[in-house]
Amino acid sequence: MHRLVFCGFMFATFAGAADLAGTWQNEVQGRGGQTFVTTCVFKIEGNKITGMYATPQRAYDIEKGAVDGAEFTFQIADGFQTPPRITEFKGALNGDRFELTTVIPAGAPARAGGRAPQGPRTFKRISADVVFHTPPELARTHQPFPPFQPIATNGLAKTPPMGWNSWNKFAGRVDDKSVREIADAMVASGMRDAGYIYVNIDDTWEGARDKDGNITTNEKFPDMKALADYVHSKGLKIGIYSSPGRKTCAGYEGSYGHEQQDANTWAAWGFDYLKYDWCSATGVYRPDEMKSAYHKMAVALRNTGRPFIYSLCQYGELNVGEWGAAAGANLWRTTGDISDNWRSMSSIGFDQQIGREVFAGPGHWNDPDMLEIGNGGMTTTEYRTHMSLWSILAAPLLAGHDVRTMPDFTRDILLNKEVIAIDQDPAGIQGTHVRKDGAEGQTLEVWKKPLAKGVAIGLFNRSLENAPMTVKWAEVGITSANPKVRDLWAHRDITDAPSEYTVTVPAHGVVLLRVE
Ligand code: GLA
Repeated sequence: MHRLVFCGFMFATFAGAADLAGTWQNEVQGRGGQTFVTTCVFKIEGNKITGMYATPQRAYDIEKGAVDGAEFTFQIADGFQTPPRITEFKGALNGDRFELTTVIPAGAPARAGGRAPQGPRTFKRISADVVFHTPPELARTHQPFPPFQPIATNGLAKTPPMGWNSWNKFAGRVDDKSVREIADAMVASGMRDAGYIYVNIDDTWEGARDKDGNITTNEKFPDMKALADYVHSKGLKIGIYSSPGRKTCAGYEGSYGHEQQDANTWAAWGFDYLKYDWCSATGVYRPDEMKSAYHKMAVALRNTGRPFIYSLCQYGELNVGEWGAAAGANLWRTTGDISDNWRSMSSIGFDQQIGREVFAGPGHWNDPDMLEIGNGGMTTTEYRTHMSLWSILAAPLLAGHDVRTMPDFTRDILLNKEVIAIDQDPAGIQGTHVRKDGAEGQTLEVWKKPLAKGVAIGLFNRSLENAPMTVKWAEVGITSANPKVRDLWAHRDITDAPSEYTVTVPAHGVVLLRVE
């Protein structure tokens, strides 16, 4: 009897394992409107799983794969992170489908934005094939790079770039008409005159390549040159987007193998700014080739003779601050994507920029991602914190809302000239925190940014209760007695603070001071 039960259990385990062998796929719709396919190819030996886990961007070897009855686990390692980032998966087989869940290891730090682990995804059996056939888009065809030589600065972005980008609000819905209307609204609202000069088209403008390999636009953008001319006629500049890989993050045509040709096309259209987003390049370049792949486009842009602000988007991997400027960048992203909520914004802004300030300066900036101000996911108080923190960080100020319908309370944040002046201060020093008090995630934080004249001080309250905060001028390096103190959101001078200042800071809010 005992023996029979035991045999039955063994049989179930074995049958579950064998049933998992084969090729499986999951499809999801991306924000850019394209379908993304993830493929699992499982080979089973006993209770061990080997094979591949392939996103549209990259194929990973399956590591530590094990099956136990209908349940299985495996992990993949991302060598673009130092140390390599391990992602663990847990699956449950049910006939010709399985549910796959990303396991968040206990104690792992919260990850901000769009690259957070996903919920369960359903994979369907495609075939019994246990061999992974590398798709053409992941084939490596480039020649080895020559030894890396830093490129001289392009002399642009002496202060952090300011403007607008389509992705946060419009994603795949951006088109010629909306870009023209945004340009009009940037003039009418005063954004242009406040310094927001760049109108940047993010992903989803791309069409196929023509017979000569030239990149074309899709039906949303009938005439890029005419659009660039229009934006220029408004006293604005215009930006475009691509990837060093074969595909962009939204699955459109990237610049792999066409770098100079694409730079020439963008220059001929009249573009002034490029955001170059790693994404599928992870499938065709090794980690040690990343900086050369970015350098290659910097050279291609330089060869056009047209000035381009060059923005790297590779989520802060491989200590980009150490080599971004040498690869020709004026700015580089430092994290995964921001989302329009307090948790994402505060984690990126407060926690994930610390220590990077040494890499920022005129011409080369850390980029904690675009602004979400005006998109509706945070309160006015929280958006004021977002604007203040980005300004103390000397971050690029790229608005990401619908400028055409901007209410006054959003305009008052984005167009606060005294706060913009902190961001755009000519000394170009990225601020950092001086002090953090209280429980993690609930801290009261004092930040400072040295200015060409004086210092900006942010008193930030990350807790859920209004709280009194005090800053002593001596702790932020101000030695003069009775300094000039200005509250940049209240727009008033503070006259009764000879050596320190105490103020109640609202929950999730800020008091931003300029002290000279
Ligand atoms: C990535 C970038 C985003 C945006 C999208 C477009 O996720 O980090 O800022 O450019 O790609 O597909």
